[in-house]
Amino acid sequence: MSDLKIFSENKTVSNKRVIVRLDLNVPIKDSKIEDYTRITAIEPFINKLIKDKAKIILLTHLGRPKGKVVPELSLKPILNYLEKKLNGNIHFYKDKINDKAVDISNRLKPGETLLIENIRFFKEEENDDETFAKNLSKLGDIFINEAFSCSHRKQASIHKITKFIDSYGGPILKKEIESINLIIKNKKKPVTCIIGGSKVSTKINILSSLLENAENLIIIGAMANNFLKFKGANIGASIVEKGSENTVKNIYDLAEKNKCNIIIPLDYNTSLNLHGNPVYKSLKDIGSKDMILDIGKNTIDLINETIDKSNTVFWNGPAGYYENENFSTGSICIAKKIAENTNSKSLISIVGGGDTIAAIKNTRLENSFTHLSTAGGAFLESLEGKELPGIKVLKKN
Ligand code: 3PG
Repeated sequence: MSDLKIFSENKTVSNKRVIVRLDLNVPIKDSKIEDYTRITAIEPFINKLIKDKAKIILLTHLGRPKGKVVPELSLKPILNYLEKKLNGNIHFYKDKINDKAVDISNRLKPGETLLIENIRFFKEEENDDETFAKNLSKLGDIFINEAFSCSHRKQASIHKITKFIDSYGGPILKKEIESINLIIKNKKKPVTCIIGGSKVSTKINILSSLLENAENLIIIGAMANNFLKFKGANIGASIVEKGSENTVKNIYDLAEKNKCNIIIPLDYNTSLNLHGNPVYKSLKDIGSKDMILDIGKNTIDLINETIDKSNTVFWNGPAGYYENENFSTGSICIAKKIAENTNSKSLISIVGGGDTIAAIKNTRLENSFTHLSTAGGAFLESLEGKELPGIKVLKKN
């Protein structure tokens, strides 16, 4: 950490154009923001820059538009919210990153903010394009990466931009790295990792590395369907990833080698469609049209018992289709148990990921974990011990 260039809040920014890369990738449905955690987290820092009379240029992505303008992934709903929460004027820029954009950034008044439309509408962003990054850098005098949760991505507004502009890590990025490092260093056995989400192939590396460091690996969410199928269970019409058998087999082999206990769900809440009501089923009762959308009560009991026997818990990825409240019970029960044991038994707990946070948003448990990370993939790759590309470029020379 001491080798990183971190932005000092005492630095004079008055009249300077400060580019801040944020992660405002929040769930939005029908133009309505469904979870504000990532936005609320950055408000104090941006308001401080406004108070200090910086000219602020905000960059963020939303979703995965793959280099095309996708109207549903416009930042307009976020702009509307920021207009209410930030203390100065905010402008919205929806055009190319060219001289016109530079001119607008130069004409900002001290304390004003310019929000650039979804940076992933440009294909050059995901390609980490050098010219694009250089043009982006011309919008500011200094650059702050305040998006730890995107720092595992080698993309222009995170990575290549730092080649062209005086660059720093922001205060929340610093806190994220410090907390994760501290906990990795101090973790106490037995360690339990609870991993959810849908795609097993994207998490294969992290699962393999967690297996080497944990006594228990609990698989939940749609990812668990692949494990159930591998074990020969009938999972009806539930989501499953094509060709996952080998990946799952490798995970079981590695678990055996490392003496890590893999726990998969025993029972479920199902429905015939994503918008339905929960129907409780044990594995043998799953019909061909049933979709597994949450873990059942026996699985929750098993997870609770495992958490009770653990001294460190990492959790990333919801237990079910939390977007329908009927299927958020599993995630909420896990959150409550981890919070309870963190408070009463000094369990070391790290909970992370945009979806995980969204799944437990109404529980008011945000402050009950040792560390709550807004990061998903970046958090997992850090646990893997990887150096994130967006962090590496912030190192002092
Ligand atoms: C996240 O939600 O984890 C970050 O915004 C990164 O999003 P990505 O996985 O689409 O790069």
